[in-house]
Parts: sequence; C-alpha cells; structure tokens
Amino acid sequence: MSRIAVIGTGVIGRSWAALFLAHGHDVVATDPHPEAEGATRDAVDAAWPALERLGLHETADRGRLVFVPTVAEAVAEATFVQENGPEDPDLKRALLATIDRESPQQAIIASSSSGITPSLLQAMCEHHPERVVVGHPFNPAHLIPLVEVVGNDRTAPWVIEQALDFYRSVGKKPIHVRRELPGHIANRLQAALWQEAYSLVASGAATVADIDTAIAHGPGLRWAVLGPLANQHLSGGDGGLRHVLNHLGPAAETWMDDLGDVRLTPPLIDALVDGVDEELAGRDLGHLIQERDDLLLALLAHKSSATVLP
Ligand SMILES: NC(=O)c1ccc[n+]([C@@H]2O[C@H](COP(=O)([O-])OP(=O)(O)OC[C@H]3O[C@@H](n4cnc5c(N)ncnc54)[C@H](O)[C@@H]3O)[C@@H](O)[C@H]2O)c1
Repeated sequence: MSRIAVIGTGVIGRSWAALFLAHGHDVVATDPHPEAEGATRDAVDAAWPALERLGLHETADRGRLVFVPTVAEAVAEATFVQENGPEDPDLKRALLATIDRESPQQAIIASSSSGITPSLLQAMCEHHPERVVVGHPFNPAHLIPLVEVVGNDRTAPWVIEQALDFYRSVGKKPIHVRRELPGHIANRLQAALWQEAYSLVASGAATVADIDTAIAHGPGLRWAVLGPLANQHLSGGDGGLRHVLNHLGPAAETWMDDLGDVRLTPPLIDALVDGVDEELAGRDLGHLIQERDDLLLALLAHKSSATVLP
C-alpha cells in the first residue's frame, strides 16, 4: 500500500482517486473548490460499483480518502503524486513548483496533462525535475485502461519504469511515449480523426450523426479490440500488412492528400453543436453515460479473458 497524492479533483482527479482507493492505496487529495470534497466523495461512491465489477483489492477502502486544505500537506508524505489541475500553464507552474518543493525527493510526480510536454513541466520544478513525467489517462479515468507515460532525456530511467509499474499495478495498460510531442500519441491520433470529421461536416459531406455512426458502428468496433495497424494487417489476408500497403496504399495516399484542413470557426462550432444536439435529442445524458460505461465494463471483462489479443 502506498500514499498517493491526488492534486485537483475535477473530472479526472476524482476518477483517479476512486481507482487508487479501489486498489488499496491511501489517497490524500486537495482542491481549492469549496464543494470539491463532497463532489469527490460522491464521485468515488458513484464509481465504486464499476470498480467492484473490475475487482477490488482486498484492502480497498473508500474511508482511506483524506482531504487536506493545501497542496503542501497533500504531498508531504506522498510516494506518488498525480497532478490534475486545470490545463493552464500558469496554474500548472505554481502547482508543479509547490509539489516539487514540498514532496519527498523519491516521490514520482505524474501530471495528467492532455498536451503539455514533460520539458515544460520539468522547467516548473527547480529541485528534482528528473522525477517528473506525464501520466496521461483517458476519461473516464477509472475505466479506460490506457495511460500515456511521457518523459524525456532529463527524466531518470527509474522514474519511467516505476511509473509504468505503478499504473500496471492499478489495472492500467500504460505505454511509454518515446518522444515528447504536444498531445502525446492518442490525442494526436484523435485530433487527426476530428480534423477530418469537422472538415466533412463543414463541407456538407456528412452530418454529425453520420460521422458518429460511421465510427461507432464501423471501424470503431474493431478498434476497441485491436488497434488500427493490427486490424489493417488482418485485412490483408495471407499477405498481411505488406499486401495491404502495396495494394491499397497508393489509393490511401491520394485520400491523405485530400484530407481537410479546417479551423474551428464560430459557425463551424455552431454546426457541430447543433449536429450533436440533433443526434442525441430526447436522450437523457445520465442514462447515456450509464449505458456507455456498462458496455465498456462488459467489453473490458471480455477483453481480460481473451487469450491472443495483444
Ligand atoms: N477531461 C478529460 O477528458 C481529460 C482527460 C485526460 C487528461 N485530462 C487532464 O487532466 C487535468 C485536469 O482536467 P479535468 O478535466 O479534470 O479539469 P477540471 O476542470 O474538471 O478539474 C480541474 C480541478 O483543478 C482544481 N484546481 C484549480 N486550481 C488548483 C490548485 N491550485 N490546486 C489543486 N487543484 C486545483 C479545480 O478546482 C478543479 O476541480 C488537465 O491537465 C487535463 O488536460 C483531462
């Protein structure tokens, strides 16, 4: 059992807190919002049935969540710090500087940041930047297994290894991002898809509902089981990926050359928002989230019993 500091308990921080408690850790949390403690405890209670289905550690106990008023108190005896403050470099700067100054030297500092590079985060930490990494989860962070661990030349190798081990120990499927890039890996892949989706809506080629149907009832089903490259390999028959790339690659290159280059102008934002409102009209969002999470849990359970999936 370790003492994990969760700094910032918004959407992501409270999900991390629930996951760490479910794996038998002590969690010390802090967040300046006056409602933060109540909202976090409610979120942990709401996440608990799903975490029970995934399997609780024998020492898992929601009573191990402690809220403290300051970042300094939260990190004072931490073995691992998960930072989840707002994605604002100025706010992160103050937060990271305090965490670095007040935490034990051997504590790993992992930021949930969706796109800030380790170099920028390390520049905020004057004492021990070598123990700073990005540990980027996906919402809902207590359910989606992927965590991107990003370091750089200044990051000590033991920090990468221990961060990967720690995330594995709480049921995650971490990957080590080998070169720091804005948006890491998965958000860049999502951005590539969003760019084309926005462009297709902007040009009138597709509605928002068409885009969502095309992915959720098409390639997205396969992507939840095997990644896009392994799927492409399987679509090549006996010749595998080499055959697909030789056979369909030239055509795919012409599609790549034709992909949209779009800006999120106010009219396009209106069109996207109207489109998603139309797509989801009459559906209760709470029920939608519940149904999504139930299906995710069922899928995760099936995937955990698969024998040859990577
Ligand atoms: N929402 C997502 O889908 C998502 C996914 C992956 C990663 N992230 C990353 O996680 C981080 C948090 O995002 P979020 O969506 O949870 O944001 P959020 O706005 O829901 O939560 C941010 C929390 O930080 C708190 N906060 C503000 N100042 C603070 C301080 N000085 N000390 C401690 N807490 C402070 C706020 O009160 C708030 O509760 C960001 O870096 C974001 O990029 C978000």
